[in-house]
Amino acid sequence: MQIKIEIGDITTYEVDAIVNAANRTLLGGGGVDGAIHRAAGPELLKECKALNGCDTGEAKITQGYRLPSPYVIHTVGPIWKGGYQSEAVLLANCYRNSILLAEQKELRSMAFPAISTGAFQFPLDKAAGIAIDTVSEMLKQVKKVEKIIFVCFDDKTYQAYHQINA
Ligand code: APR
Repeated sequence: MQIKIEIGDITTYEVDAIVNAANRTLLGGGGVDGAIHRAAGPELLKECKALNGCDTGEAKITQGYRLPSPYVIHTVGPIWKGGYQSEAVLLANCYRNSILLAEQKELRSMAFPAISTGAFQFPLDKAAGIAIDTVSEMLKQVKKVEKIIFVCFDDKTYQAYHQINA
């Protein structure tokens, strides 16, 4: 069981599944979602169109196509609305449901971006705490998934994760 925190571009990671911080349409967008769709190629959008979207906190899996990772797990983080709309629970659900889906598929390694902390404006420190707590708890419960990497796109995000993990 292993948790790593790294700075990088998640689209370059050779893990069994990278996780996408998508929106409910699953039809692409900006941020990490846009980067994943660009790197995977148009086949990814084609597969996503058949999934009929995804609810906040839930997760769906596709192939990775031109990505180095064979699978992409698409999850939809909550939009921050001041903390009064169950955002914390919904964000924890993203991590939990993504790991449960990977476990069902018998995947061993996963990489997560900092879900909801970009366009969806979830406060970074809170989000990092939820990410680390939920993933640590889940890794005790699953059998196949054994390695999780938090891929931070900038130094601010990296520092936030490290402060939680200190
Ligand atoms: N690798 C890793 N992390 C990345 C990458 C990348 N290539 N590109 C962006 N990020 C980081 C951002 O810096 C941020 O820390 O991912 C984190 C999440 O930011 P967003 O991608 O904006 O995701 P989110 O806040 O969950 O908002 C989702 O944005 O474009 C959309 O379609 C997406 O509508 C959805 C919304």
